[in-house]
Amino acid sequence: MKSEQPVQPFSEKMTAILNYGALNLAMAIGYRTGLFDVLDQSDAPQSASTISARAGLNVRYVTEWLGVMACGGIVELSADSDGTDLFELPAEHGDLLARRAGHQNMGVYTQEIPLLTQCAFQGVVKGLGDGQGIPYANYPEFQQFMTQLADAKQCRVLTDVFLPSVDGGRLVAALQSGIKVCDIGCGEGIAVMLMAKAFPRSEFIGVDISDEVILTAAHQAQNNGIANASFLTVDAAALSQHHGFKASFDYVTAFDAIHDQTRPQAALKEIYAVLKPAGLFSMIDIAADSRLAGNLAHPMAAFLYTVSLMHCMPVGLSDGGMGLGMMWGRQKAVAMLRSSGFSKVDVTEIPEDSFNLHFLCRK
Ligand SMILES: C[S@@+](CC[C@H](N)C(=O)[O-])C[C@H]1O[C@@H](n2cnc3c(N)ncnc32)[C@H](O)[C@@H]1O
Repeated sequence: MKSEQPVQPFSEKMTAILNYGALNLAMAIGYRTGLFDVLDQSDAPQSASTISARAGLNVRYVTEWLGVMACGGIVELSADSDGTDLFELPAEHGDLLARRAGHQNMGVYTQEIPLLTQCAFQGVVKGLGDGQGIPYANYPEFQQFMTQLADAKQCRVLTDVFLPSVDGGRLVAALQSGIKVCDIGCGEGIAVMLMAKAFPRSEFIGVDISDEVILTAAHQAQNNGIANASFLTVDAAALSQHHGFKASFDYVTAFDAIHDQTRPQAALKEIYAVLKPAGLFSMIDIAADSRLAGNLAHPMAAFLYTVSLMHCMPVGLSDGGMGLGMMWGRQKAVAMLRSSGFSKVDVTEIPEDSFNLHFLCRK
């Protein structure tokens, strides 16, 4: 029997794609320049000149940007008694778009595709021809974006929600009395610094392959007077070769930092090697299915596959790497963790983070 559901003509879908793609780009510019925050802080509709003055931005550009936002249904348009256009951001839009949104912040994500386009459009077009990867060094703006994202995601949730959920609360008790923790692919160190501040008796080491992010993280820790966190440039695939690392950590974390490595299987084996007996490893990685068909109903699968195409897969392919890609999925992740030595892997959803899964492993 044929479906009764009306089928959307593909031409309508194409119109929506072109409009939403354009709208995403303009929203990224509004997020970056603070326009959403200015709109969010107004308690009544404002003219383009008031909005641009408050934002410290050019009125002609702001007027054009407001045109995109009004036609895209992001801000509401009205007029004053003189017929001047007035603009208002509904409070429920500000809840997701302004910086105050914290871990609910979806505005921060509008920057992701424009930034990846800036870093890798040519590289991916070339890669489709020659199969070559793209090194991390080609993505400096993206690293800064990852820090903003980590800040929005981790702030409050990491220490107040995620860590207390690990191992029935026993991990937090251990962190309070003092243990040794390593964060793999720590980026600019947001997670390490949050944990170090919350658990002053524990010692935290963040490692990353990039010198630049390690320097930034070390600088930030020093500026914030965080004495129990340090940062080292180390390739996770050679972790246990670092002096004093073998069998020395009680807890290892990897936030979104395994699937884009060039040698992820080696990295997982090395994580096993640096844990003490009975030590815990929390791998936080994307919630996806290893079979493409299992992702068709995921509400953001096309977005996530695009991020993988533009970043995770090409960086993972550089240096002759494996190129797992972000959508490697739960089944493949569990199989790789098992073949690294972790005989028991518990996979759970993460409170307040629908993008990721928590793969908890014990040595
Ligand atoms: C997607 S970012 C995640 C950063 C951070 N954990 C976060 O949640 O914001 C992945 C990080 O892994 C690092 N990385 C990639 N390959 C690595 C390797 N072989 N060893 C250590 N770090 C690596 C990258 O430099 C990058 O900082």
